[in-house]
Amino acid sequence: MDYVWDSSLETGNELIDSQHKALFIAVNNLLEICRKGKGKEEVSKSLDFLTQYTIKHFFDEEQLQQKYKYPDFPIHKKYHDDFKVTVRDLSHELIMKGATDRLIEELKNKIGGWLVTHIKGQDAKVAAHIRNQIAAQK
Ligand SMILES: [Fe+2]
Repeated sequence: MDYVWDSSLETGNELIDSQHKALFIAVNNLLEICRKGKGKEEVSKSLDFLTQYTIKHFFDEEQLQQKYKYPDFPIHKKYHDDFKVTVRDLSHELIMKGATDRLIEELKNKIGGWLVTHIKGQDAKVAAHIRNQIAAQK
């Protein structure tokens, strides 16, 4: 398993955390399928799930940011949009060329690694903002 959840990844927001955990599972699943040399059908099934779940998760997270008037929403949304393009591009390459070692490394760096960095850096700030807003409303 490439990406193991630990407390350093927790944002404290239940919805965000549960979706991040599911994303880790999806990335681990994709990497495992690639390494096992499974066929195109299984690879594209795994990619479809990862893509759809990413879109859903970003949508939910962006709704939350807007609800709580997160000041850095535009730049955060840009990070999400750029990542969706990365996932789309890597998906196309994977389907076209199959899971080469180089592509697996790219999946790790640009998808798995990106998620870890984004969660710890950006999403932690979102969660802190939401907590502050809730506390201020009480
Ligand atoms: Fe995010």
